[in-house]
Amino acid sequence: MDSIIVRGNGALSGQIPIAGAKNACLTLMPATLLSDEPLTLTNAPRLSDIRTMTALLQSLGAEVAAMQDGQVLALSSHKVANTRADYDIVRKMRASILVLGPLLAREGVAEVSLPGGCAIGARPVDLHLRALEAMGAEMELRDGYVHAKAPGGLKGGVVDFPFVSVGATENALMAATLAKGTTVLKNAAREPEIVDLAQCLRRMGAQIEGEGTDTITIQGVDRLGGATHPVVTDRIELGTYMLAPAICGGEVECLGGKIDLVGAFCEKLDAAGISVEQTNAGIKVARKNGRVKAVDVTTEPFPGFPTDLQAQMMALLCTAEGTSVLEEKIFENRFMHAPELMRMGADIEVSGGTATVHGVDRLKGAPVMATDLRASVSLILAGLAAEGETIVNRVYHLDRGYERVEEKLGNVGAHIERVSGQ
Ligand code: UD1
Repeated sequence: MDSIIVRGNGALSGQIPIAGAKNACLTLMPATLLSDEPLTLTNAPRLSDIRTMTALLQSLGAEVAAMQDGQVLALSSHKVANTRADYDIVRKMRASILVLGPLLAREGVAEVSLPGGCAIGARPVDLHLRALEAMGAEMELRDGYVHAKAPGGLKGGVVDFPFVSVGATENALMAATLAKGTTVLKNAAREPEIVDLAQCLRRMGAQIEGEGTDTITIQGVDRLGGATHPVVTDRIELGTYMLAPAICGGEVECLGGKIDLVGAFCEKLDAAGISVEQTNAGIKVARKNGRVKAVDVTTEPFPGFPTDLQAQMMALLCTAEGTSVLEEKIFENRFMHAPELMRMGADIEVSGGTATVHGVDRLKGAPVMATDLRASVSLILAGLAAEGETIVNRVYHLDRGYERVEEKLGNVGAHIERVSGQ
């Protein structure tokens, strides 16, 4: 397995282009199953998760071609040849569950392997199933698979989510576009990826109102057509690279960045003493003098502070002046980066869903282990500000969500290299 070696070497300067959002692309791709006409996605990120979704859709009979070095995905589901999403692919990526709603809506039947837990928590799919049941689907859990059917087709209904789920909102939204009648999604997720999905579905002919608010209303239509849609900017990659100059010092412009994608995060950077400025080309971030100040952070559904930036923010706060308290409210086990950061000299206490970070003057390079996607990149950021060399082992998680990380950070002056494993 590959490792990444980073050496702390001071301030960064330059520009980093931000890719299309992994999490948006992973829900836009299954939307192809809703129509027999082509769907073209531009601004797609080049990531292993996208290749996994490609393999899953191909196993269902979709044609998927990656063009322009993977930045354009041409998808076509003229015919759905298979309605079973197999364990072998689903186990690699939880977002595979997003084929359930579209398959059920188009074919009236679907079998999808249960994705199971993952390192950051149990992550059940009960809300996805309940939402589709509210649209008339019958669900059975058998042999590790969800067996779903809707013999007379899905019917519009009211889905009242007990708490906010991004994936369940996406599954329900896609399914509802082809259901008979009106569906109302209450307490829906408001993430930019949901807004992007709704915009793409509307381009395909869906009738949707209210995306970006907590109530989405969908008027089912008989069929959807083809569309071309640009994937929204990845706000998590954006926030991650905004933290690079915040941690190392210097000034970096993240191209394509928009503050409304990362509003709550920018407020915390501001409180920590980091300068953030919207430019014509993106977002410019600078730390020119002094230590970062401690700030408290609580993760919440959008528009709150994203859980997917919590690990990276912790890396920043390790060397802040004062004590910061980070509360993780979305996933129950998302502090696995804390013991790794402590190997680098960070002073962190974890108790349940709360991590208390006492800022230290400097981190020191060390061998560390990447435990999940966002944890991997938090260790790289920490290593860039540490004294000496940090070896981040097991970086395969990183390639799921960050394209060309060595190139992007290397171009702004970071000392970073990949070492191929056996
Ligand atoms: C998506 C993102 C992920 C991000 C998360 C929260 C993708 C591919 N992934 O994940 O990067 O960290 O949103 O912003 O878009 N839950 C249930 N039952 C369900 C569904 C969820 O209990 O049926 C729980 C989860 O375990 C978690 C919480 O609800 O504690 C929120 O999860 P959810 O918003 O569904 O996350 P994902 O869509 O899996």
